[in-house]
Amino acid sequence: MAPRSRSAPETVVVSVGGSVLLTGDHDVEYVRRLATLLRACGQDGPLAVTTGGGRTAREYIGLGRELGFTEVELDEVGIDVTRLHARVLAGAIGPPTPDRVPTSVREAVHELHRASPVILGGTEPGHTTDGVAALLAVRLRAARLVNATDVDGVYDRDPRADPRARRRATLSWKEFRTLVHASTSGEAGQNFVFDRLGADLLARAQIPLLIVRGRDLRNLEAAIRGRPFDGSRIGSE
Ligand code: UTP
Repeated sequence: MAPRSRSAPETVVVSVGGSVLLTGDHDVEYVRRLATLLRACGQDGPLAVTTGGGRTAREYIGLGRELGFTEVELDEVGIDVTRLHARVLAGAIGPPTPDRVPTSVREAVHELHRASPVILGGTEPGHTTDGVAALLAVRLRAARLVNATDVDGVYDRDPRADPRARRRATLSWKEFRTLVHASTSGEAGQNFVFDRLGADLLARAQIPLLIVRGRDLRNLEAAIRGRPFDGSRIGSE
């Protein structure tokens, strides 16, 4: 593929956490406003969005675990829930977003050549939808990956446990990967600010990762559009 010209719009990938989509607090209004934002950003440039499974996925994974499912089977349960969320968000956005949710990165890339935004959930066992978003970002040579999550950035220590915790506006990939690897082991349904496979992939490709609170739509839009935003940035532009 030839390098994109300077005037071509930037490709952006967004990973929306399931815990952002469904909180039990004004979910319909939020999904409607998120859909409007993603429709507009998707018209201005290629935009791919992954949706997580959140609490719903964790509930079903917990049920499967009690029933003795293997880790791969539990991942497949999680993937089904993330695809359900993708279907709901794609439906809220409407055409030209494909109403059939792509099931692989390859298929999502193919769809994005025809329409934007493209919404998908999980693909394969072994990672989360953040990992899918990172794989997509690498494939698409994206300018950045925006992680719309339920926290407002990366802290130097756990802010729930320690009031002295400070949010970091910027981190190097080395610092961030150390944090991710210390906090995750790769089990189904595990939850950290970003997936470790995804962090490794983005670091290798030198694609910046922007972490923002997903319910703060003004800030989310700023991050998607490459404007100054409130949150944490990993890697330099
Ligand atoms: P999520 O992407 O929702 O993970 O996938 P998460 O960390 O819980 O994210 P939030 O809370 O939505 O932000 C849910 C589970 O589905 C499986 C994994 O078990 C994951 O933990 N999954 C998802 C896969 O195995 N492969 C995928 O591509 C996506």
